[in-house]
Amino acid sequence: MYNETVLDHFKNPRNAGEIENADGIGTVGNPACGDVMKMYIKVSGGILADIKHKTFGCGAAIACSSAATEMVKGKTLDEVSRLTRDEVAAKLNGLPPEKMDCSNLAPDAIRAAIENYRGNITENRKDQNESTA
Ligand code: FES
Repeated sequence: MYNETVLDHFKNPRNAGEIENADGIGTVGNPACGDVMKMYIKVSGGILADIKHKTFGCGAAIACSSAATEMVKGKTLDEVSRLTRDEVAAKLNGLPPEKMDCSNLAPDAIRAAIENYRGNITENRKDQNESTA
């Protein structure tokens, strides 16, 4: 069902794990199956400096997390936010059509982590303003 590239990423997922003291964390679930993906990001000067994932999902979801994290490292947050599931699937040389829904998780979880990061920044600014007021 899966091609060699998908199987390789599934068996040897890149960037798997957790980042301690991550700048942003995004969690998304697939309501259709109950699988969950968590992305941890480190940001430096507007660039996504590091990213790791924990994926409790099917082979396609794990392969997509692995490929997506490889695709976004070193890019600006705005570039990263535009990542689509089709680009992730293309990086994997294609996914079975019935597995395309699973490929939404990685871009969505990465966007959620960026939103979390941006929210943290705003909160920190508010805190600083309040403490200096
Ligand atoms: S079947 Fe749940 S993410 Fe693929």
